[in-house]
Order: sequence, then structure tokens, then C-alpha cells
Amino acid sequence: MKEALCVLCLVLLVSISEAAVAKPHFKTFIKCLRSWPSQENPITDDIFTTDNTTTFLSSYLSYTKNKRFVSPNYKTLIAIVTAKHVSHIQATVVCAKSNGIQIRIRSGGHDYEGLSYISTVPFVILDMYNLRSITIDVPSKKAWVQAGATLGELYTKISNASETLAFPAGVCSTVGVGGHISGGGYGNLMRKYGLTVDNVVDALLVDLNGKLLNRSTMGEDLFWAIRGGGGGSFGVILSWKINLVEVPKILTVFRVSKTLEQGGTDVLYKWQFVSSKLPDGLFIRAMPQVVKRTIVVKFYAQFLGRANELVSIMNQSLPELGLKRQDCQEMSWIKTTLFWEDLPVGTPTSILLDRPSRPEKFFKSKSDYVKKPIPKEGIEKIFNVMLKFSNNMYMQWNPYGGVMDKIPASATPFPHRKGNLFKVQYYTSWLDANATKGSLDMMKKLYEVAEPYVSSNPREAFLNYRDNDIGSNPSDETNVDEAEIYGSKYFLGNLKRLMDVKAKYDPENFFKNEQSVPPARVK
Ligand SMILES: Cc1cc2nc3c(=O)[nH]c(=O)nc-3n(C[C@H](O)[C@H](O)[C@H](O)COP(=O)(O)OP(=O)(O)OC[C@H]3O[C@@H](n4cnc5c(N)ncnc54)[C@H](O)[C@@H]3O)c2cc1C
Ligand SMILES: *[C@@H]1O[C@H](CO)[C@@H](O)[C@H](O)[C@H]1NC(C)=O
Ligand SMILES: *[C@@H]1O[C@H](CO)[C@@H](O)[C@H](O)[C@H]1NC(C)=O
Ligand SMILES: *[C@@H]1O[C@H](CO)[C@@H](O)[C@H](O)[C@H]1NC(C)=O
Ligand SMILES: *[C@@H]1O[C@H](CO)[C@@H](O)[C@H](O)[C@H]1NC(C)=O
Ligand SMILES: *[C@@H]1O[C@H](CO)[C@@H](O)[C@H](O)[C@H]1NC(C)=O
Repeated sequence: MKEALCVLCLVLLVSISEAAVAKPHFKTFIKCLRSWPSQENPITDDIFTTDNTTTFLSSYLSYTKNKRFVSPNYKTLIAIVTAKHVSHIQATVVCAKSNGIQIRIRSGGHDYEGLSYISTVPFVILDMYNLRSITIDVPSKKAWVQAGATLGELYTKISNASETLAFPAGVCSTVGVGGHISGGGYGNLMRKYGLTVDNVVDALLVDLNGKLLNRSTMGEDLFWAIRGGGGGSFGVILSWKINLVEVPKILTVFRVSKTLEQGGTDVLYKWQFVSSKLPDGLFIRAMPQVVKRTIVVKFYAQFLGRANELVSIMNQSLPELGLKRQDCQEMSWIKTTLFWEDLPVGTPTSILLDRPSRPEKFFKSKSDYVKKPIPKEGIEKIFNVMLKFSNNMYMQWNPYGGVMDKIPASATPFPHRKGNLFKVQYYTSWLDANATKGSLDMMKKLYEVAEPYVSSNPREAFLNYRDNDIGSNPSDETNVDEAEIYGSKYFLGNLKRLMDVKAKYDPENFFKNEQSVPPARVK
């Protein structure tokens, strides 16, 4: 009995002293930041606190992309550091860690659940948007790009340096390179060149102790983990060294729509059998969308070749679409990036450099992987739920196949490779805060009705389409059992290796969020 009591005392003592260490020290944190030795690059102008709520709020909002999260949590958000130099990153990491303050790293701020800028425990946002330099080396077909650059800036720089080089990344120009690459970003060159992470050759990372590491100094296991294991679990990415890929001077794109009356369901049904088997240079996204209380299926395509060849491929492979030469437009790669954003023909490419400073809408997204064609009745059931949305609602079906079938599932943490016909994104957006609950409920219904037709055990999900519904932890504690629920959906068999890497480099789990990788349990 006495012994048991003593053990209890010990446990109490330990937890009290732990609480003392973990108790966040706001003032000492700010003091630690301000006194960080860096004469040439003073950090002072880059620290935003609630001392000035005006500048604090505008700093918070400038990279908040989802209106669902426009109100900062004044109780927990201690400061925003808009780093301009690597020493500012190092200061933020070291001072946050020593003062028991959590860190959330934000590059472009597109995280679908706002995990880069919200937390329920005392935290600092490390904003990376000032760190956006890009250097292109055409002869070696390589580039260094800092985390705070946007895809639009990267694409602009590449096309300015060469008419025949590109990078296989996503379609939205304001997405940040930091989060996008960390999550295994993909785009319309995926069937030919794979994902962003398949084209990363080096990286600079600030680790737990504030050390700046590159590929050779961080070690291959950590370098493996950061290429798709998700931002925010392993350290702060300062920059990526990427492979540029070859594209022709002229590419071809088309956008063709089919209403249900025009046989949209049949064409979509047939698309499932052919889209992942077409030549690697052809990517055809199908987008069923609610338009004026009916469904229109839009087909967006990009071909690494000329229009005549594309028309003849389509005539053989998917004649149901009825593609004509006049549906096709030939253009340079950089112009295709505007086409994918649905911008009117003639929009100047300078729009790719825009950085809007306020979120425009509320949105919610979910994802699925499809391995067998969905029967027509299934498509119709899904469409029927889509029609019940009162807001903007669409799906994106993105074809797999091509090189995605050839890259082993363990090559990077991103596991969804061979055996997938396509990936689905469900997306809805709204403008009125009152519609939030209804929209989130509708998304759950849609996800339920799709269940019989998509991957199962586990039901796979795409990390860059982050979705807290599939499992998530509290802000300050990464429960391993819960992490195995969301982690197995995002990473399948790669989760274990990610947890081992995490245990080696961040055993105390400093870098965390609601869906981060936990350190493997000590056996
Ligand atoms: C309009 C739109 C279009 C999109 N299109 C595509 C697409 O075509 N293809 C695709 O794959 N995805 C797409 N996405 C999803 C996008 O890739 C992810 O949301 C991505 O994580 C965004 O990166 P970010 O830097 O902008 O976001 P952030 O919110 O800044 O970061 C996302 C996550 O990465 C972490 N992180 C950010 N920077 C760093 C860093 N420097 N070091 C360590 N961790 C970091 C954050 O903490 C957070 O967990 C799209 C999103 C939107 C909103
Ligand atoms: C906050 O910052 C703004 C912009 O720098 C400045 O105009 C304003 O006076 C400041 N407010 C306070 C209370 O310091
Ligand atoms: C494009 O390249 C030219 C010549 O190298 C340079 O002067 C210009 O600033 C570049 N433009 C952009 C947007 O990078
Ligand atoms: C990585 O960093 C080390 C130590 O700073 C340096 O010696 C090495 O050249 C770097 N590697 C590359 C590929 O730059
Ligand atoms: C499509 O193919 C059919 C026969 O396979 C041919 O008759 C027709 O001319 C082709 N159309 C186009 C636009 O190539
Ligand atoms: C949203 O709901 C609130 C409270 O129910 C109401 O006052 C407001 O008018 C509503 N806004 C809109 C745009 O409907």
C-alpha cells in the first residue's frame, strides 16, 4: 500500500514538473525571438502579436484561404512570424520549443482544414510567404524553389527560362510550394511524369534543434519522409530542389461538356474504362458539376502534342465524346495553366503572380480512390445526392495509370499508385456562413452514398485534400490509435515507416497537428 502510494507520489511529482516545463511562457517566447542573434537580418519587424490587433488580423487573414477559419483564436494564437531569413525560422523553432509553444507552419495557406494556422493550444504561426525565391538552371533541368513561392510564380519563372520545360504540379496558381510538395501534390502532367514528390532531388529543412539540413546531412530516411509524409510532422521546409520535365512548345487542350440529356452519364461511364489507359501524355479530367439544378459533365484535357493527333486518338478511344478539331486549342505550356483555372482566353499570364489577401469563400472537400468502374446506377445515385446541394458543388475525377502504375508504392510516402483507375475530389463552396452546417452535412451524405463504389479497408484518401472527418486528434496530443485510422488512409503501408522516421527525428513530437504522423511507440 505504502509502495503504491509512493509510486502515485512519483507519478504526481513527475507530471507536475512536466506541466511546469510545458507551461507556455508567452513573454519569454517573444523575448527569446527578439533577442535572437542576427544583426544583419533583424526579426523584430516580422513579429505580429495582439499588441496591435489591426496588423495582427490582417497578417492572419492574408494567407487564410478558407472563410470557415477567418476568426483567429485570440486565446491561443500568440504570434505570427513572417520569416524573411532562415535565422527567423531557426529562432521561431528554438524559442517555441523551449517555451512550450506549438508551431504551425504556413506557406500558401491552402490547407483544407486550416491546420497550418489554427490550434486549440498556445501556438505561433510561422508564415513562409516572404521566402519565395526561385532559381532555374536550364542546362541541368533543375530548380531550387523556396517554400513560400506559389505554383504560379514557379510556373512563370520556368516558362520565362525555357519554352520546353515544366514542372508536374497542381492547377491552382496560389497554392504554396511548401505544403503542396510536402503532401504529394499532383497535376495534369501526372500520368507522364508522376507527382511533385517524384521530381524532388534535394531539400533544405530546419529541424527540431534549429539546424539547417540538406539531403545528405538529414539522411535518406528523413528525406524519404518529407516527400509526401505531409508538412508539419518532420520540420520546416525552407526549399526544394526539383527536376524540371520536358514538354513540347505547343500543347493541346480542350473542354467539352455533356449534359445528362446529351448522354453525360454514358460518356462518364465509358471514360472510366479508357482514361487510365490512354497515352501517358494525355490527361482527361472529368468534372460532374451541378449547374442550374441539373448535372453537366465537363471534360478538361491536356495533350503533350498537336490537335490533329489528339482528335484521332479521341475518335478511337472515346468516340462517345464526339471531340472535334474546333473544340481543341493549341498553346504553350504556361497558357495551359490559365486554361485549367478556367480563365477567359487572352487573360495575361501575369495573373499567375497574384496573391489575393482575403479568403473569398467557405469550402469543404473530400477524396476517394476508385479501382473498379462505378456502375451507371452508382453514378446516378451519386448525382442524385449532388443535386440536393444548394451551393456550388462539383466532383473532379482525375485519371491515374501511365507512370503512376510504374512507381512503387513505397518509393515515397504517397502510396496510391498501381491499381487505381482514378481519384475523386468532392468539393463544395458557399458564401454565407449560415450555410456551413448544411454544406458539411451534405458532404457527409455524399461520401456515404459513394462508399460502395470506392476503395475500402481502408477507404483511401489524399493528404493534400485534407479531411478531418476521416480521423483526427486534438491539437496537442497525437494519439497513436487515432493516427493509425487517418494515417492508414493517407499512407497505407507506408505509415509504419513514417512513424519510425518520426520516432528517430522528433521523438517528443514537437512538430504536430490534428493529422500529423506520431512517433512509433517504444516497444
Ligand atoms: C484552389 C485549390 C486548388 C488545389 N489544387 C490542387 C492540385 O491541383 N493538386 C494538388 O495536389 N493539390 C491541390 N490543392 C491542395 C493543396 O495542394 C494543399 O492544400 C497543399 O497542402 C497546400 O499547400 P500550401 O502551402 O498552400 O498550404 P498550407 O496551408 O500553408 O500548408 C499545408 C500543410 O503543409 C504544412 N506546411 C506548409 N508549409 C510548410 C513548410 N514550409 N514546411 C513544413 N510544413 C509545411 C502546413 O503546416 C499544413 O499542414 C488545391 C487546393 C486549393 C485550395
Ligand atoms: C497598428 O499598426 C498600424 C499599421 O502599422 C498603425 O497605423 C496603428 O497606429 C497601430 N495601432 C496601434 C494601437 O499601435
Ligand atoms: C524573365 O526573364 C527576363 C530575362 O532574363 C527578365 O528580365 C525578367 O525579369 C523575367 N521575368 C520574370 C517574371 O521572371
Ligand atoms: C549539404 O550540406 C553539407 C554541409 O553543409 C555540404 O558539405 C554539402 O555540399 C551539401 N550538399 C549538397 C548536395 O549541397
Ligand atoms: C473517326 O473514325 C471513323 C472510323 O473509325 C472515321 O470514319 C471518321 O472519319 C473519324 N473521324 C475523325 C474526326 O477522325
Ligand atoms: C444568418 O443567420 C443569422 C442568425 O440566425 C441571421 O441574423 C442572418 O440574417 C443570417 N444571414 C443570412 C445572410 O441569411
